[in-house]
Amino acid sequence: MKCVVFLLLPHAFSLALENGLMRTPPMGWLAWERFRCNIDCKTDPHNCISERLFMEMADHLAMDGWRELGYEYVNIDDCWMAKNRDMMGHLIPDPERFPRGIKALADYVHSRGLKLGIYGDLGTHTCAGYPGTTLNRIEQDALTFAQWGVDMLKLDGCYSSADEQAQGYPKMSKALNATGRPIAYSCSWPAYRGGLPPEVNYTLLANICNLWRNFDDIQDSWESVLSIVEWFSKNQGVLQPAAGPGHWNDPDMLIIGNFGLSLEQSKSQMALWTIMAAPLFMSTDLRIISESAKEILQNKLMIKINQDPLGIQGRRILQSEDRHAISLHSLPRTAQFYRGHCL
Ligand SMILES: *[C@@H]1O[C@H](CO)[C@@H](O)[C@H](O)[C@H]1NC(C)=O
Ligand SMILES: *[C@@H]1O[C@H](CO)[C@@H](O)[C@H](O)[C@H]1NC(C)=O
Repeated sequence: MKCVVFLLLPHAFSLALENGLMRTPPMGWLAWERFRCNIDCKTDPHNCISERLFMEMADHLAMDGWRELGYEYVNIDDCWMAKNRDMMGHLIPDPERFPRGIKALADYVHSRGLKLGIYGDLGTHTCAGYPGTTLNRIEQDALTFAQWGVDMLKLDGCYSSADEQAQGYPKMSKALNATGRPIAYSCSWPAYRGGLPPEVNYTLLANICNLWRNFDDIQDSWESVLSIVEWFSKNQGVLQPAAGPGHWNDPDMLIIGNFGLSLEQSKSQMALWTIMAAPLFMSTDLRIISESAKEILQNKLMIKINQDPLGIQGRRILQSEDRHAISLHSLPRTAQFYRGHCL
């Protein structure tokens, strides 16, 4: 058995994006890992990317105890758009799948005490081939999102160059600020640049983004969870100091409640994401989630640790094949909190 101990250590605070949002890691629900780019509402109306899916998830977040625990964002990912912009160049949702429009969906989500997140892509196209936000469209799209009442933007990075990303990600941060609406900003930028210095400047990221994807997309498997944890731990010297209130590393969604993890593996993902001060975005079907998966995701102790106001990301301090090798005496006295976890 392989055991890993994670530890929270204090670190110096750095400058951060000053929109006042996400002082603790954001929590909510994001469509992608579970529902992908399923746009087939004819044969799969229950699971396709449509306003109905997001309204139903909002209902469940509000009804089933999630919202009270902090799971407040309902987030759209790729494949919500029409294939083309309108005549004025505005992004528009697919008219058949979002007949009432995004503003109405935002109103619906807000009426349930929740927040709505949307997805865009800095580039010529989104990853799935929908209209992208090129450099000259950034202000226009920021304004569109603000006018719809959107509360968060995930800006992906397919189909753009390193130069365009270096210009575009800071530019969108300014444009969101200029709308006057507080909109949390998730940047996929580092994941497109290898996630490490010198290509990635984490000081800069913390100044412009509330969270950022550092590494590969999560898939529905334990191997995927492990590869993410391994990469984050191996590079924790760079990554751990970058996180703090208002600016977070994002190892991607929680896949608990899906098909790839056993019960013990599900508990492990929750514990590891908790200790990593990771955003807790579930990507599962809240309409049919099992009681055991729900219990893990609603674990109050995990959520309390994850939501610690100091926002200090945990570090791996020991890795061993032998779980008896872990002893509390080996933990530095400066530890504010530790948690041993056997994988
Ligand atoms: C815009 O940025 C300024 C600081 O640069 C901040 O005080 C203000 O709250 C921000 N506004 C929004 C809407 O994010
Ligand atoms: C990283 O960005 C910060 C803030 O913009 C800047 O002061 C610093 O010089 C940058 N570091 C490098 C190595 O480019």
